Amino acid sequence: MFNRVARRAFSSTAASNYKVAVLGAAGGIGQPLSLLMKLNNKVTDLALYDLRGAPGVAADVSHVPTNSTVKGYGPEEEGLKQALSGADVVIIPAGVPRKPGMSRDDLFNTNASIVRDLASAAGDYCPKAALCIISNPVNSTVPIVAETLAKKGAYDPKKLFGVTTLDILRASRFISEVANTNPTQEKVSVVGGHSGVTIVPLISQTTHKGLPKDKLDALINRIQFGGDEVVKAKNGAGSATLSMAQAGARFAGSVLNGLAGEADVVENSYVENPVFAKEGVKFFSTPITLGPEGVKEYHAIGETSDLEDQLIATAKETLKKNIEKGVNFVEQTS
Ligand code: NAD
Ligand code: LMR
Repeated sequence: MFNRVARRAFSSTAASNYKVAVLGAAGGIGQPLSLLMKLNNKVTDLALYDLRGAPGVAADVSHVPTNSTVKGYGPEEEGLKQALSGADVVIIPAGVPRKPGMSRDDLFNTNASIVRDLASAAGDYCPKAALCIISNPVNSTVPIVAETLAKKGAYDPKKLFGVTTLDILRASRFISEVANTNPTQEKVSVVGGHSGVTIVPLISQTTHKGLPKDKLDALINRIQFGGDEVVKAKNGAGSATLSMAQAGARFAGSVLNGLAGEADVVENSYVENPVFAKEGVKFFSTPITLGPEGVKEYHAIGETSDLEDQLIATAKETLKKNIEKGVNFVEQTS
């Protein structure tokens, strides 16, 4: 079996051979996300792990004729260790999704320990990997991963990402519906966290800052609570999976582009962020530039309207509590 250095040595595009592991690969997000990662030509080794079903997903995805090998693993025979060993990027959508009437925070009791244990394994088997956390509640699961890795001396804040890209996709789509424009040309920075009032779209930074107040308020509300639309429509069968797979593949693709040394790779992500650290908000999503070591640069939020300042203030208050909850969980359970 080739290690990463050997894999690179055998390649004509030396900086584009990466091992990606998806944990929770047989789930609603995991399956389409695994397919999309199979289509990413920077990935040469795709490891799919789940408690059940990953070998089947791997066999299926492996028939897609791109230049990567795909292997599926379960918990038996040290499957998690095998999936993680040598991984450059680990994407984690493992855990339960919401049902109608639930908040993302209601998932904490189930998902916190799932994410903690997977993070611990990543700390053991691929301590240098970039970790992309999808499992909800992201506002708390990211601090859980940070604390878990820190206890092992394996935490690199520049390589831990909460995936908030779905909010960015929704913002582009929803604003285009209001403004009657092409969504592929719409770019909206969404800062804060990933749940309800912690999701803050910065419409004043777009070309649509002149929207009438009623339309603006409705647009912001739709972006903040877009996840609920899907949960309601799926009627007990889960939450967003396909749009999330697209969002996850875009974000992981950008992480890979950064690792490969490409220029100007900018995404918004929920990371340990200096922006409000002095106010006790350790994690916050802002635009970041991705590079060979993970986060290369933290960008300022930029100019904001009075309304957005209020939304950010509200987001910070909720985030503080969400972050503390994650940190306390690790302190109390490990
Ligand atoms: P799902 O139930 O369809 O799939 C989850 C998968 O995780 C299942 O296959 C399950 O077997 C697996 N799993 C559970 N525990 C595991 C463990 N210890 N190790 C490995 N695999 C494990 O759920 P889904 O719809 O794919 O959603 C997954 C998570 O992603 C949920 O928490 C959901 O809220 C979250 N989510 C986040 C975003 C976001 O924007 N960040 C968007 C959508 C969903
Ligand atoms: C989303 O935004 O779609 C996800 O966080 C899933 C959810 O629970 O809404």
